[in-house]
Amino acid sequence: MTCCNRNRNRNRNTGTGYGSSTEMRTIIRLVATCLLLALLPVANAAEPSTVLITGANRGLGFAFAQQYAARGWNVIATARNPEAAMALRELADKTGRVRIERLDATDPASVDNLGNRLGGIPIDLLLNNVGMLGTEPEQQLGSIDPTKFDTYMRVNALSTLLVSQRLLANVKASRQKKIAGMSAAVASFAAYPRTHHGLYYYKASKVALNMIMRNLALDTEPDGVTVVVLSPGVVNTYGVPMDERMRGMVDIDTSIAGMIKVLDDVKPADTGKWYRYTGEVIDW
Ligand SMILES: NC(=O)c1ccc[n+]([C@@H]2O[C@H](COP(=O)([O-])OP(=O)(O)OC[C@H]3O[C@@H](n4cnc5c(N)ncnc54)[C@H](OP(=O)(O)O)[C@@H]3O)[C@@H](O)[C@H]2O)c1
Repeated sequence: MTCCNRNRNRNRNTGTGYGSSTEMRTIIRLVATCLLLALLPVANAAEPSTVLITGANRGLGFAFAQQYAARGWNVIATARNPEAAMALRELADKTGRVRIERLDATDPASVDNLGNRLGGIPIDLLLNNVGMLGTEPEQQLGSIDPTKFDTYMRVNALSTLLVSQRLLANVKASRQKKIAGMSAAVASFAAYPRTHHGLYYYKASKVALNMIMRNLALDTEPDGVTVVVLSPGVVNTYGVPMDERMRGMVDIDTSIAGMIKVLDDVKPADTGKWYRYTGEVIDW
């Protein structure tokens, strides 16, 4: 005797319960659907988030990769030369959470190839970290070189625009939908110290990045994407303990943990803002 037959008999025999077996099946289906719907968010919440970090083979990018992997995120870490990215490869082996991808963020073909390899993977957080500070002497008044200026612009500003444009659909397909760019406080007109000379290419290219991010925020607001700019502080990325000579600098773990907290906390209403690693909003 099947289960349904048994139910039908029980209903007929006792005259109690839920009436016909059709009604019973409807109720069971309803209860099952409710249970499934109640469990769905739990299942989604358990799914790890994904961060894509550009320039993750060293410096702040690598520290971001370490901390996000430690938090159980899926990390897509890009490097211009993955074969030489030994620390990143070790992190990938150790954690099993890091996928290493080749990317020259200034090269549209390389950016497009990355997009093709990733396909439709949702990216909760696109962390555009690639950048260059360069040296002081090559950026002083008297030594301005248009080719170098172009290089800084491509690395510090264009790269973020190219990568964000190509991976926007992946961000939109995610739950968190966040895009960050890495700027520097010396690019703020409002907070700019009158004593800080030089660094023409660096400052100009980070100002350009800021406007790119503001524009991106505007364009992606209707899709619920949160676009923010970050300033890490002047960070000790030298891999040595902080000492007296580093007064005014911030230790790398503090800077990264602060920026991760900012990125955790920001909501769509915060799109287009610029944050210091401490959480303070920076005036443009
Ligand atoms: N450290 C600070 O105190 C500080 C302060 C303010 C802002 N920032 C910003 O924070 C970000 C990270 O800084 P950091 O100190 O960690 O820099 P970093 O140690 O110099 O690392 C820069 C990263 O960018 C990558 N990169 C450079 N050009 C690239 C290109 N064309 N395509 C792909 N990757 C490229 C480098 O790859 P390779 O190894 O292949 O060169 C490296 O992974 C930068 O945007 C920087 O301007 C840093």
